[in-house]
Amino acid sequence: MPEFKTSPGTRDILAPDSARWRSFQDVFARTVEAAGYSYIIPPMFEDLDVFLRLGEATEVVTKEMYDFHDKGGRHVALRPEQTASVCRAFVEHRPTTPWKVWYSGPNFRYEKPQQGRYRQFDQVGVEALGADDPLLDAEVIALAAKFYADLGLKKVHLSINTLGDEGDREKYSQKLAKYLRENEKSLTAESRATLERNPLRVLDSKREPDQKVIEAAPVIRDSISTTANEHFETVLQALDALNIEYEINNRLVRGLDYYRRTTFEFTSIALEAAHTAIGGGGRYDGLVEALGGPATPGIGFALGLDRTLLACDAEKVFGAPLTAVDVFVVDTVNGRHAHELCHLLRSNGFRADRAYDLRSMKAQMKSADRSGAKIALIIGSEEVEKSTIMLRPMGSGEQYSIARKDLLGEVRKALDIK
Ligand code: HAM
Repeated sequence: MPEFKTSPGTRDILAPDSARWRSFQDVFARTVEAAGYSYIIPPMFEDLDVFLRLGEATEVVTKEMYDFHDKGGRHVALRPEQTASVCRAFVEHRPTTPWKVWYSGPNFRYEKPQQGRYRQFDQVGVEALGADDPLLDAEVIALAAKFYADLGLKKVHLSINTLGDEGDREKYSQKLAKYLRENEKSLTAESRATLERNPLRVLDSKREPDQKVIEAAPVIRDSISTTANEHFETVLQALDALNIEYEINNRLVRGLDYYRRTTFEFTSIALEAAHTAIGGGGRYDGLVEALGGPATPGIGFALGLDRTLLACDAEKVFGAPLTAVDVFVVDTVNGRHAHELCHLLRSNGFRADRAYDLRSMKAQMKSADRSGAKIALIIGSEEVEKSTIMLRPMGSGEQYSIARKDLLGEVRKALDIK
């Protein structure tokens, strides 16, 4: 047993998965930059107060925050998500609106680790600030749907709901709490405890005994303003116009308290229940104000990279890209020829690798095999004497001698590069 291992809920991402992560981020960047979003890199920790704006009743804040006092006595926290940081950045820099940004990177939540749930997990996401337009809501949702399609995912389900305007949610929460209290006896002990903290979260319960009570619970759409209802109707029509399929889920409240109006969640039906939510988002009109800025509407989403890749595994799409080198240089003389040839090849745009420590020909050829290179260049004392190199297309069982001065042209030819 090694003395040190990764901390619970964290993982090393090694090749070939690490290459897959990178191309995931590349595909996301391409998708959202084509829609006018620019890249933002917020810091990984901020003043705790920034994240308290996520809602002091949310579990992300009450139970899961990685917060500590730094050596200067500041109470800071590792970011549990990036929407609050983006809004803080908006208030700090006051960019012109609409401000459309995208991000990618790790977040930290002290959750119970399990498959698809980590304490350090990556998200990619977008935020659009300064526009109230319901067509923007539909555009943001369409962007996420397009990205999933770009990855090759087909079994992604979209649920959508509205939480109404400021005050509507609170009104509904009270109405719901009253109803749940009246039916408290039929709820599980866990849900009774949740009811005390945040009645809305009871609607998330997947526990069988709670279902009957939840099914008959009042729905939020009956508690929201006409304008919020109209806004929602326009969002739905705009999704219809783009042929985006969705299911209206009156019970979708999501885990963070800043949501108003449109909220949505993507689930993978290829995955098991525990970690099916592969992304989610919504409007958070009011968050910028809560962070000390002017009243500014906002909408966005974040997609869990870890979980989306699990969905890709389940659907057998978006495998790891090939990262193998083109050429492997085998030098049985002294290693210097491999040293110089690799440098020459790399300087000319080829991907080249070699073995070290002057291993035997057999061991070096084994490494060449393992490297995935398409060709091996072999140099022994005879080649040095004649200023030649043996070129072996891997797996062909053949090899031929080339003049050392013709190396680049011959490698190009062997790799079929025009
Ligand atoms: P969220 O629903 O908390 O929303 O997280 C979004 C996604 O991140 C989830 O659907 C899931 O795929 C992934 N995720 C969350 N927690 C974990 C975890 N512990 N392990 C693995 N994956 C996880 C937000 O974070 C909002 N900031 C989204 C948003 C952006 N709303 C508006 N703009």
